[in-house]
Amino acid sequence: MQGDIEKVLISQDEIERHVAEVGRKISEDFAGKDPIFVGVLKGCFIFMADLMRRVDIHCSMDFMAVSSYSGTSSTGAVKINKDLSEDIEGRHVIIVEDILDSGVTLSYLKKYLEVRKPASMSIVTLMDKPSRRKADVYADYSCFEVPDAFVVGYGLDYNEKYRNLPYIGVLKPEIYS
Ligand code: IMP
Ligand code: MG
Repeated sequence: MQGDIEKVLISQDEIERHVAEVGRKISEDFAGKDPIFVGVLKGCFIFMADLMRRVDIHCSMDFMAVSSYSGTSSTGAVKINKDLSEDIEGRHVIIVEDILDSGVTLSYLKKYLEVRKPASMSIVTLMDKPSRRKADVYADYSCFEVPDAFVVGYGLDYNEKYRNLPYIGVLKPEIYS
């Protein structure tokens, strides 16, 4: 599997340091606010597991599953496959994403959740690809800004594979063909 990787873009060490830093900031900003972290499955699962262990305030967690992608290009459509099980009215919601690309998914999700009247809504993303943005949405917390390349690992997939890589890498071009 690791033989399919052309290069490591972000190492395990770097991920650990930046995730810890963001966890520390969120802990400061949300102390006493009992936020609810909403992970966007499946891509968030490794990032969220590590981030939550760096957050040392009272908080709760929930998950949503959405699909917007097939292969490496956006279909533009967002589908809710699993909704929240908790009530978010009056809560400080922190959406946890793997990567903010075109922003289509998150801008849809924000509108979708806004009608439930949360006290606030913030976004934390592992990676941000600002050059690809189509929707007017930004991350309040981002661990890494990345160039316009398709990346895999640490939760992110290519056709459901490579999520279990411990780092973030770029695939060899022949893998896509
Ligand atoms: P957006 O709606 O274009 O912002 O896309 C967001 C979703 O697309 C992310 O949550 C990922 O699941 C997926 N995605 C975007 N870029 C990449 C990438 O480089 N590698 C893997 N998945 C990606
Ligand atoms: Mg995702």
